[in-house]
Amino acid sequence: MRIFLTGATGYVGGAVLDALLRGGHDVTALVRDNEKAARVAGKGAHPVIGNLADPDSFRGAAEAQDGYVHAALDKASGRGPAIEKVALDTIIAVAKRPRTGKSTARARRFVIFTSGVWVLGKAPEPIAEDAPTNPIAMASFRPAHERLVLDAGTDRLRTVVVRPGVVYGGGDGRIGDIFKAAANGLVRVVGDGTNHWPLVYDRDLADLYAKLAVNNDASGIYHANDEGDERVNDIVAAISPYVATRPDVRHVPIEEARATMGPYADALALDQIVRSPRARAMGWTPTLHSVGGSAARLLEEWRAAHQAVTR
Ligand SMILES: NC(=O)c1ccc[n+]([C@@H]2O[C@H](COP(=O)([O-])OP(=O)(O)OC[C@H]3O[C@@H](n4cnc5c(N)ncnc54)[C@H](OP(=O)(O)O)[C@@H]3O)[C@@H](O)[C@H]2O)c1
Repeated sequence: MRIFLTGATGYVGGAVLDALLRGGHDVTALVRDNEKAARVAGKGAHPVIGNLADPDSFRGAAEAQDGYVHAALDKASGRGPAIEKVALDTIIAVAKRPRTGKSTARARRFVIFTSGVWVLGKAPEPIAEDAPTNPIAMASFRPAHERLVLDAGTDRLRTVVVRPGVVYGGGDGRIGDIFKAAANGLVRVVGDGTNHWPLVYDRDLADLYAKLAVNNDASGIYHANDEGDERVNDIVAAISPYVATRPDVRHVPIEEARATMGPYADALALDQIVRSPRARAMGWTPTLHSVGGSAARLLEEWRAAHQAVTR
């Protein structure tokens, strides 16, 4: 299948790119410069140099595709929500273009949008895809974007919203940040650390995207979590034995954390237990079930990604 992917040089999108290529798809990836173009071309994708904020830079390339996976987020410009809206409007319009006689694709076109569990807000009891949204401040723009994507669905276009938990694996993400802090001897935990984080291994998450791409019946919201229901304190405790010196752990009161990191503090202190029944019903089975249960392996992945010697 011909698939247009945004965010291919990012944490989530990079894993998705690998999974789509493994699945034999023909992937065109939007990237921002020549160096990144060379990187995705090296993996086997077709790079298109452009920018989400400039639809003319990628519309033409997108018009040649059957499927669309949006896994980018402009975090640095301060205009992330507005740019995401422009990107989604463009992708949806292109995905809805009339079919020509030349089109050989029989499957419905699809748009897969990457959202996140922060749209659910506090969830101390397990919640699934049918739960109402209650976003934290950092995700306040997201429910409207989810709705935009879902409402664009027709009998010729299926639209999908994926809500990953906190992604782990490789060298990135919040779990990567904890590995780094632990290796440096001090882990700061926002709040008392008894809060649960919904988590998902990057390759398992990418496998879900690959399944969604080829399942002509898949549409709507899909959570993606390993359902390990780990508390932040448990994650830190599980990691600690695997670094050279057991790190100090400091619990930072939420007000103090807000003063230094702003609304991200509330994301780190969020207590969420999330279930993914729709993904599991599709046959998605995560290979990793927790960070704690795979701490040694994950630390090796993190070390390999950073070429750091911590033991
Ligand atoms: N990481 C997680 O734990 C997690 C959990 C749940 C949901 N999510 C969601 O997943 C999505 C991706 O997150 P991530 O962690 O993978 O982020 P990331 O590692 O920062 O990757 C962001 C990607 O977006 C691209 N990008 C940013 N601005 C762009 C622009 N103006 N034009 C074109 N490309 C642009 C980046 O390209 P460059 O390489 O050029 O910067 C990069 O490929 C986000 O929507 C996030 O909310 C992430």
